[in-house]
Amino acid sequence: MSDLGIDTELLDDRLPELKVVERILELKGKRHALVLAHNYQSPEIQFVADYIGDTLSLSMVARDAEQPIIVFCGPDFMVETAKILAPDKTVIYANAWARCPLATMITPEDLRMLKQAHPNASVVGYVNTSPECKCEMDICCASANAVRITQSLEAGEIILVPDANLASYVSRLVPDKTIISWHGFCAVHHMIRKTDVLDLIHDHPRATVIVHPECRPEVVDLAAMVLSTDGMMMHAAASQDREFIVATELEVVNRMIEYNPDKEFYGIEKAYCRTQKRVKLENVLQALETLEPAVNLQPEVLEGARRPIERMLEVGRAESLTGDER
Ligand code: 13P
Repeated sequence: MSDLGIDTELLDDRLPELKVVERILELKGKRHALVLAHNYQSPEIQFVADYIGDTLSLSMVARDAEQPIIVFCGPDFMVETAKILAPDKTVIYANAWARCPLATMITPEDLRMLKQAHPNASVVGYVNTSPECKCEMDICCASANAVRITQSLEAGEIILVPDANLASYVSRLVPDKTIISWHGFCAVHHMIRKTDVLDLIHDHPRATVIVHPECRPEVVDLAAMVLSTDGMMMHAAASQDREFIVATELEVVNRMIEYNPDKEFYGIEKAYCRTQKRVKLENVLQALETLEPAVNLQPEVLEGARRPIERMLEVGRAESLTGDER
């Protein structure tokens, strides 16, 4: 213990990490680089980031950034979406091995086959897909705008891929359209079971249940609000309620606890995204030092994928924070 009561052994343990943080902050300035981080990233990654958000807000920040270099701490599809929207910038994967399993669950061939089977359908594709798949879509959607985007289309038949739970949620709120879904899922949200939430409701009967739309339909049934991760954060801050059960990745719950010390939040312990947690401070430092690995897409893929993403951004954030969506 030091005179000030600080556990010096603990400080020694964190010293190498502090040095990496220092170096990252220094290099960020030198390189005139922007560091973006998704809401599921570890606290130390969020600490060095210039902006933290959900998929939709991160893509907008990347598009509008002044900096010529973006280091993106998130899964592959988010990094690639940033490059598609900002083709003149150098966009670097903080860790190119952070590959979203959901984004691999549908291929361009699968999507072409679906389109052939439903020639009158419009194609809405979740941003959690490859750039090549995006080339086959009419419009992309994120969790924050999937309902509004589907509603905005004229077609009576909508192909909404690849997340079956998201498609099921959208079909509840857009009952006048036929939704053709695919069998993809987000492992983190899909592993949250009805009993996990019911147990928390039993222990905290006054808590408001907020759920991500990638959750199973029977979990969505228990929700007072269904929101994107940024939507959840905003709702937690604005709501008069004092207690919340939160069905999404645990880091979102940790951030809610940090920002709302006067409220109580109960998360699902196993909802931990190993893919996103692959991004470490050392990766961010290396990305800033080497400016590699940068996203490198064929010009026709960049061009083809931009159109559905830009159409999505025209709609923007469209979730209701007032409780009318379920
Ligand atoms: P949002 O953060 O956009 O709500 O979605 C989470 C997600 O799909 C991360 O892979």
